[in-house]
Amino acid sequence: MGIGLSEARAVLDDLPAELLSSANRLDAEEATRVLTEAGADAEVLRPEDRRPRGARLCYRSLPMTELPSVDDVRAAAERIAGRVHRTPVLRVEALDALAGAELWLKAENLQRIGAFKARGAMHAVGHLSEAERARGVITFSSGNHAQAVALAARSYGCAATIVMPTDAPRIKVAGVRALGGEVIFAGTTSDERRTVALELAEKSGAAVIQPFDHPQIVAGAGTATLELCDEVAERTGGEHLDALLVPVGGGGLIAGACIAAAPTGAEVYSVEPHGCDAMARSLEVGHRVPVPPGPTLADGLKPTMVGELNLEIARRHVKGSFRVDDAQLGDALVRLLVHGKVLVEPSGAAALAIALGGQLIAAMAQRGRSEPPRRIGVILSGGNVDPRLVARLLAEHPEPV
Ligand SMILES: Cc1ncc(COP(=O)(O)O)c(C=O)c1O
Repeated sequence: MGIGLSEARAVLDDLPAELLSSANRLDAEEATRVLTEAGADAEVLRPEDRRPRGARLCYRSLPMTELPSVDDVRAAAERIAGRVHRTPVLRVEALDALAGAELWLKAENLQRIGAFKARGAMHAVGHLSEAERARGVITFSSGNHAQAVALAARSYGCAATIVMPTDAPRIKVAGVRALGGEVIFAGTTSDERRTVALELAEKSGAAVIQPFDHPQIVAGAGTATLELCDEVAERTGGEHLDALLVPVGGGGLIAGACIAAAPTGAEVYSVEPHGCDAMARSLEVGHRVPVPPGPTLADGLKPTMVGELNLEIARRHVKGSFRVDDAQLGDALVRLLVHGKVLVEPSGAAALAIALGGQLIAAMAQRGRSEPPRRIGVILSGGNVDPRLVARLLAEHPEPV
């Protein structure tokens, strides 16, 4: 029997492909023995215990020693160097004045494909062996991760299949195709997409590139914070951020941020839309809580559940959680555009919204900090926004001061 889901994590993609495929040809008991001998703390489920239908699943507990470290993030930075941009860290005096602190804005909206997602995908695809890449990669996503995987596959010269919802925005479908990815449509829910992707992977042997709950995705995402922290130190003569605000969907970005920022002592805070607060609620109770996402402008921040690895890391590091509504997102997006001349998508404006609203300073004072934070890092996580939405938000927030 497999170990309980609450204390175990799917490792479908953590295991070397050869190991996994040999395990799949064996019966559950034999496969468990092979995996254990190979050093994985794993137990393979019998077919009747598998779920979802058709997926190859095995589970292993997550020893603390396996959490990615800052060295993993540094190694990821080396691996992806030259294949993704080192994005600028922006300072906007008008926004500092509103926030009452120095804001150090990491402009991942200017990253390739317009979002930090290029980092994790490039790292994960780069980690595969030549033989694995020859079988292609596959993912399931409706958003920035889809284009990120297509980009990474093109960069490494391998085929990418992206399973997208039938109602995916045409612009995102076109973006994947323009990068050479093959699009397969499957249902409208993330479960439907995931099941189809895993079935296709089983048939073709393609490697599944997870959107957020994977050590390589986390380490890749952490490179954005690593660059930010390094640049703050360079530009201030060795000083550090007091706090870092990070938007959260499945939690890969914040998990990487926690690991990368830990050596600097910066306190990490999560930001989610109201009604899509799976990380905040999971942190409150100490285990993953599914939250059927409510409506929000921040379409990158609405997975039903945060990643298990990501929660594990966040539980150890995150100091507090914030929630934003659409009015705050719109306001922050417009202020950044008007004052900073920088365009982000609503998900990318979430962390800035909290910095501008003063909630962080209040929360840090409540936690017993005597001095207000001087330097706040803000991850502007992406910039892929429908121009019609920008026009609407500009009309709704005409005079930001
Ligand atoms: C622009 C943007 N910001 C933030 C996130 C959240 O990232 P994560 O799922 O790693 O928490 C996403 C996820 O797709 C995104 O596209």
